[in-house]
Amino acid sequence: MAKKRKALIAGNFKMYLSSEEVKRLARAISDFVSQKKYEDRDVMIAPPFPYLMAAVDSVNPSFVSVGSQNLYFEKEGAFTGEVSPLMVKDCGATYSIIGHSERRKYFFETEELLRKKITAAISNGLIPVYCVGEKIEDRNNNRHFDVVKRQVEEALREINFRSDNLVIAYEPVWAIGTGVNASPEQAEEMHLFIRNLISGIRDKNISENIRILYGGSVKPDNIDSLMKMENIDGALVGGASLKAEQFTRIIDYRI
Ligand code: 13P
Repeated sequence: MAKKRKALIAGNFKMYLSSEEVKRLARAISDFVSQKKYEDRDVMIAPPFPYLMAAVDSVNPSFVSVGSQNLYFEKEGAFTGEVSPLMVKDCGATYSIIGHSERRKYFFETEELLRKKITAAISNGLIPVYCVGEKIEDRNNNRHFDVVKRQVEEALREINFRSDNLVIAYEPVWAIGTGVNASPEQAEEMHLFIRNLISGIRDKNISENIRILYGGSVKPDNIDSLMKMENIDGALVGGASLKAEQFTRIIDYRI
């Protein structure tokens, strides 16, 4: 069974690994994907900032893309500790994860800030992977659709994105790093909801072609059932992307 949209399997290495480990892992992933020569899926890895160039140099760019885990929206300036989209691009990266729940939680990132980051990424030719997702108390109080609607609409409303220069990742906070993934049905329900929101903000064509990834405890043993869902176009993988054996099995999902 073929998927409607080209899938994207992305690894978020978070704040883990040494330079040697990043290079080794990137090479192993690249070797695997180069052999498989998939036509129906893309692969991306997002190492910590200091290792972006090392990761770019370790992969075959025809088969594996590299992304940053964050960026700042200004082009340059006195912003100590920040990294601009131009710099990310200059390192050879092509994607940038924006608005991960850990950035929202620990670094107080708001939709207003994230809108600027997404705009800056797109105008510099980077593909943002914009993350949204509710907390457990939102879901328990049946507010999960309201929360995700606000995250999607407030950040994306005024941006002229296309389906090929923006990716959305639904990552319910309660599923991240917990070992409890959203069920394929729960994820599918939210992905369809997000797709309909995109249709309202932009148009039907964009909403039908934009890729919506699922993230939160994706593992080799649940990827196949998640990817069987019509509106799940890929995965944003944390912990399991740090082990070549696990991540390559996720990349090699079977539906
Ligand atoms: P885990 O796969 O470790 O749950 O992390 C998901 C995530 O946050 C990816 O961005």
